[in-house]
Amino acid sequence: MGRVAYVNGRFAPHGQAVVHIEDRGYQMADAVYEVWALFDGRLADAEGHFVRLERSLLELAIDMPMSRKALTIVLKEAVRRNRIREGLVYLQVSRGVAPRDHAFPTTPVPPAVVITVSAVDRAASDARAAQGVGVITTPENRWGRCDIKTVGLLPNALAKQKARAAGAAEAWFVDELGFVTEGASSNAWILDQDGVLRTRDTNANILRGITRRTLLQVIAEEGLKLDERPFTPQDALAAREAFITSAGNIVQPVVSVDGKPVAHGRPGPVATKLRRLYIERAKATAI
Ligand code: PDD
Repeated sequence: MGRVAYVNGRFAPHGQAVVHIEDRGYQMADAVYEVWALFDGRLADAEGHFVRLERSLLELAIDMPMSRKALTIVLKEAVRRNRIREGLVYLQVSRGVAPRDHAFPTTPVPPAVVITVSAVDRAASDARAAQGVGVITTPENRWGRCDIKTVGLLPNALAKQKARAAGAAEAWFVDELGFVTEGASSNAWILDQDGVLRTRDTNANILRGITRRTLLQVIAEEGLKLDERPFTPQDALAAREAFITSAGNIVQPVVSVDGKPVAHGRPGPVATKLRRLYIERAKATAI
């Protein structure tokens, strides 16, 4: 059996699953999304992603398409039908289908829902973590509501492409004051020269990463020093370690910034340990 996608109440073969040409997600990026990591067929950090989904929808005045309980059942059914144990679950909710008009539809339409499930090669991901990845920097050019997880990802896509062209895995956006905000699809961290973990605070214009949030709990439990304070690319180059976090990357050590090595250019012990602890915790709490 091949991959299956969920679209507006139906499961369809992945290659044949389609949305309407006037879906507002397609025309206006008027849609939000969530990505859950799957460990052994179960959703990691499930609650955190649901809370963020509900907040993103609320901020855009899009209705939750169904209750959290019903959505959990549909997500799990999508996982089951795809027979994927290690992977990612993608959920997109748009405002719905309506004749093209910038303002919201005057007659209410139901939100449109798409779910896909993709496999992740965890061995390859672990190998990448053992090796570390490079990042490049690029000027921050996104809108002012990066806290809402919308599908309006063009600046992120362009930044990621710039990274790929440079042989790097991620692009870090740098604001007008010279501070890193976050990655194109991840949060950015360093372990500074004083042994303090640093990541941008969530009052800044960044996505409130769920992996970031859970890792903050792990960091507190481990008694590690933390300061939610911005850092520059130069701070990262002078740091002991750097890493990125996301549902896709989990915790991924960063070993170079703009082609220059971070510390010795190898993954550090703290990022490596945090990756292990996050995975242990995610597995233990997945639903
Ligand atoms: N990206 N920042 C941005 C801009 C992101 O797109 C993401 C996630 C994160 C990390 O959030 P979380 O830990 O909740 O995954 C931070 C997802 C995985 C994606 O776009 O595929």
